[in-house]
Amino acid sequence: MSETVGTLHTKIRVAVLGATGAVGRELIKLLANRKFPVADLKLLASPRSAGITIPFVGEKLLVEAVGDDSFQDIDLVLASAGSSTTKAWADKAIGAGAVIIDNSSAFRMNPSVPLIVPEINPSAAKHHRGIIANPNCTTILMAMVVWPLHRVQSVKRIVVATYQSASGAGARAMEEVKTQARAILQDQPPPTEIFPYPLAFNLFPHNSPLNEQGYAEEEMKMINETRKIFNAPDLRLSATCVRVPVLRAHSEAVNLEFANPFAVSSAREILSQAPGVKLVEDWQINYFPMPIDATGRDEVLVGRIRQDISHPCGLELWLCGDQIRKGAALNAVQIAELLVRENLLGVPNTANKK
Ligand code: A2P
Repeated sequence: MSETVGTLHTKIRVAVLGATGAVGRELIKLLANRKFPVADLKLLASPRSAGITIPFVGEKLLVEAVGDDSFQDIDLVLASAGSSTTKAWADKAIGAGAVIIDNSSAFRMNPSVPLIVPEINPSAAKHHRGIIANPNCTTILMAMVVWPLHRVQSVKRIVVATYQSASGAGARAMEEVKTQARAILQDQPPPTEIFPYPLAFNLFPHNSPLNEQGYAEEEMKMINETRKIFNAPDLRLSATCVRVPVLRAHSEAVNLEFANPFAVSSAREILSQAPGVKLVEDWQINYFPMPIDATGRDEVLVGRIRQDISHPCGLELWLCGDQIRKGAALNAVQIAELLVRENLLGVPNTANKK
């Protein structure tokens, strides 16, 4: 990394681990579209993908199988290859002086690892020790909408139900839904490889492991990660996560309880000005956020903001956000931009190794 990190002209040597996945491919597009100062881009995946090419600013870059030497001369690793892969390579990457922004859940709840949504807790990045965790997609989308309200009046309790797209389970899962839909339309049995049950023309409660209280791992991620990002360890939350046959944008029905009434007009005003959030409401024609409109967009769409008729201090709202963008790749690239802007690249104690 050059001495001038932190200036706009600094060029960063970047590796994308999981480059062939749904999030990996979006990361590569965003690095180009957002003009991230890339000096070199290394594309890493499993040996299955070695040799395939992916376009990046007019070039076709070769994907390499990740290996012992992959992180030499790399400043920043954007990882989206699952928990076990990040865990397997984290020491090597950090040892080589790279900072990892990891999209998996491997390190999110580790107290020494910052868990960041740049619009909410950017200052947590200052304390990184080589790894920064990108939160769970449903958590990011909800946090983006709840935080601006929480800053005005602390939320006491959140109850959320999610409607999660196939993309959260990866590129192969998105293909599986299409294959299932084609099969069903031809009166054939839908094949299931990635998902445990058919998702096309169906839905099912999230299939991540269940704890002894009956909560799915995905639901506990929303609960624990929101508390960490908000720095609100006592915040009360409950979640029901459901997989729906949508390709790449998640939706969420969110119920918020405050200590005092929160005027709907104030909530609308606050959310219409919140960074990264777009208010989408036309009550005359029942037009509110839909996954089809959120797909490919950076903002989290929010609408149907209304008083909870069952509680004087309650608000109901509905949101949709692109799971691959703000739910994953965009948030990771925004963290990377933050690191460059704040001169936070380089790993404490290993930064001078190279
Ligand atoms: P590959 O395509 O070679 O399997 P998604 O979440 O969309 O399924 O993407 C997962 C990403 O993680 C892919 O790029 C995949 O590469 C990569 N990946 C999975 N397992 C490994 C591994 N053991 N080592 C490196 N990359 C991996």
